[in-house]
Amino acid sequence: MGSAGAIRSVRELDAAGRHVFVRADLNVPLSGGGVADDLRIEASLPTLRLLLDQDAAVVVASHLGRPGGEPDRALSMAPVGARLAELLGRPVTVATDVVGEDARAKAKSLAPGEVLLLENLRFDPGEKANDDAFADALASMAEVYVDDAFGASHRAHASIAGVPARLPGYAGLLLERELEVLGGLQADPARPYVAVLGGAKVSDKLVVLERLLEKVDAICVGGAMCFTFLRADGLDVGASRVEADQVDTVRDLVARARDRGIDVHLPTDVVVATEFAEDAPHDRVPAAAIPAEQMGLDIGKDTGETYADVIRGAGAVFWNGPMGVFEWEAFSHGTRAVAEAMADTEAFTVVGGGDSAAAVRSLGLDDRVDHVSTGGGASLELLEGKDLPGVVALRP
Ligand code: 3PG
Repeated sequence: MGSAGAIRSVRELDAAGRHVFVRADLNVPLSGGGVADDLRIEASLPTLRLLLDQDAAVVVASHLGRPGGEPDRALSMAPVGARLAELLGRPVTVATDVVGEDARAKAKSLAPGEVLLLENLRFDPGEKANDDAFADALASMAEVYVDDAFGASHRAHASIAGVPARLPGYAGLLLERELEVLGGLQADPARPYVAVLGGAKVSDKLVVLERLLEKVDAICVGGAMCFTFLRADGLDVGASRVEADQVDTVRDLVARARDRGIDVHLPTDVVVATEFAEDAPHDRVPAAAIPAEQMGLDIGKDTGETYADVIRGAGAVFWNGPMGVFEWEAFSHGTRAVAEAMADTEAFTVVGGGDSAAAVRSLGLDDRVDHVSTGGGASLELLEGKDLPGVVALRP
């Protein structure tokens, strides 16, 4: 795992009057031509303000979505630049290209205290390929590099791994905080340490599950992936989604965890429906009595209460993945129960990025948890014990 200790902090950087390249993760959801959730934009502000207060000329770059190496108007950074300007309270110029004439000219003439946002890095195939010429072109726009893109730090792309090989590199304040919180959870969590895991696929979470089960005292499982666990426990889960090829692996994982005295909590009741639809008729049934033609779309009320009790009794909690289809009211109660318990508990609480972060924010509870990570895949890879390319690249 990466350590923040060995890398230089942006706090040590004398940025006055210098051109600074900031890789941020401004990959935010868009809707109706605007930004739908600005968690990541807000999270990038402290580093940008620190640099602008020193009168640096700041070149900001990010990817947005997965445009596949070519321009896509629907994924332009323009709306992100507009929101960034509002939040920063100063103008943000948006380049019309990534490393083309417009970006290079605007970077060159950027004055101290000004901000330039490059167009979507992934409009150029050189970003994902970590292409030398593309990394050279990005690096040529600045004198120093600051990585604040925790959410993208698991990608060995040009702006993450290539540019810091060419410029002196520093960790931004967000990257530092993410490494400190998530690294601290792995190294020395307050006890009992509880993981709450949900989401669609157990196969995506197997490695992190293995790692977490070495560290935690208890785990609560929800989301579609809990049906693979219930099947592994010998239950008939009706038409619920099961990853049949993972059942044996999960059975073995759970048996080993229980042998080591870890409490593995699985749903005792679930909310079921006859089809995967927002308005499908639904019912709450015991997990051991799911009707053959019905599928589970949320954990049930009793399970939500049990998980909430476990969270309230914890010393530290890491939560990743919703408990059900929380975007649909009828199947949102399990996720709400977990989010509210996260907000109420005295435990040190961390919400992994992605859907669970969106859920906590949509419930207005994000200010009542200790840390909402801006990284979905990145936080899981960190907890898996992987050395993140973005962190490796900053080591002197
Ligand atoms: C994320 O949203 O998890 C990061 O911005 C990384 O995006 P990616 O999965 O498209 O690389």
